[in-house]
Amino acid sequence: MLKTKFTETFGVEVPVVQGGMQWVGRAPLVAAVANAGGLGFITALTQPTPEDLVKEIARTRDLTDKTFGVNLTILPAINPPPYAEYRDAIISSGVKIVETAGFNPVDHMPDFKSAGVKVLHKCTSVRHGVKAQSVGVDGISIDGFECAGHPGEDDIPGLVLIPAAAEKITIPMIASGGFGDARGLVAALALGADGINMGTRFMATAEAPIHQNVKQALVDGDERNTNLIFRQLRNTARVAKNAVSDEVVGILAEGGQFEDVRDLVAGVRGKTVYETGDIDGGIWSAGTVQGIINDIPTCAELIGRIASEAEELISSKLAGLVA
Ligand SMILES: Cc1cc2nc3c(=O)[nH]c(=O)nc-3n(C[C@H](O)[C@H](O)[C@H](O)COP(=O)(O)O)c2cc1C
Repeated sequence: MLKTKFTETFGVEVPVVQGGMQWVGRAPLVAAVANAGGLGFITALTQPTPEDLVKEIARTRDLTDKTFGVNLTILPAINPPPYAEYRDAIISSGVKIVETAGFNPVDHMPDFKSAGVKVLHKCTSVRHGVKAQSVGVDGISIDGFECAGHPGEDDIPGLVLIPAAAEKITIPMIASGGFGDARGLVAALALGADGINMGTRFMATAEAPIHQNVKQALVDGDERNTNLIFRQLRNTARVAKNAVSDEVVGILAEGGQFEDVRDLVAGVRGKTVYETGDIDGGIWSAGTVQGIINDIPTCAELIGRIASEAEELISSKLAGLVA
């Protein structure tokens, strides 16, 4: 059994986290991760209203009696969602762990703290991790350039980002971006992290509530199968390479503006990809870790083998290298 600062502080058996995923982070997946001993997060903003989030939390509780959390992604928006109401829904439902992402969570800290909610803040740079640590979060999730979703604008892969962060972060820290198996977990521990966060790898599991075609696309795709969109707008997102993301990259490279791609990148189009399995139907997030995804296991199989193979790697293969 692997015991780290992360498992101790957040009360989970295995130092493996399923981070928030828009449209994907719903009850069946989160409960399956929890039942397998990991830490899953419901994605708050996938639920249309805070009341729907309360129902999704209840639906998850019907499927597991283990610990799980809720992801609250705070991004700049012209019409921002009612963040305070989502926060209140989390607190009133009795959820005790939140993954914040995007903006600094400082505005939400007093309410979370007084309700005894632990905050795991996900960020993409050492300076943002240090800042979050200074406002009292309980853990940091540091997302390298490999990751699906928003890698930030610094382009620092995990091999440097994780140890650089480990030098400054004293609270529990997990490494994110590009992780998919026991080798990644052991590497993350060696680099100074206390566990790993995975997104893309959890999409290709039996319980992920998305179309089989999407899961198969992740198995078929290799590490080159992503596009970085919105680079020019300084809001970079790593998404699956497909007809739509290729078109968006082309339009923006030729000087196009957001207005020129607005319809192509619409969130509802992305959502239909997961529902219909038309993988060229819109933009959907995926990371470079596709290069090491070769199957569609249950969460119990995936987390179980990551834990057991990591123990084997450390105690046998690596220990055996010491003369
Ligand atoms: C389909 C998908 C949707 C995501 N949506 C969110 C989100 O809404 N909020 C968030 O904080 N991170 C989101 N992420 C990022 C993941 O939580 C995680 O940080 C990332 O996937 C780690 O990189 P990996 O995919 O290489 O494991 C998303 C990732 C994926 C694959």
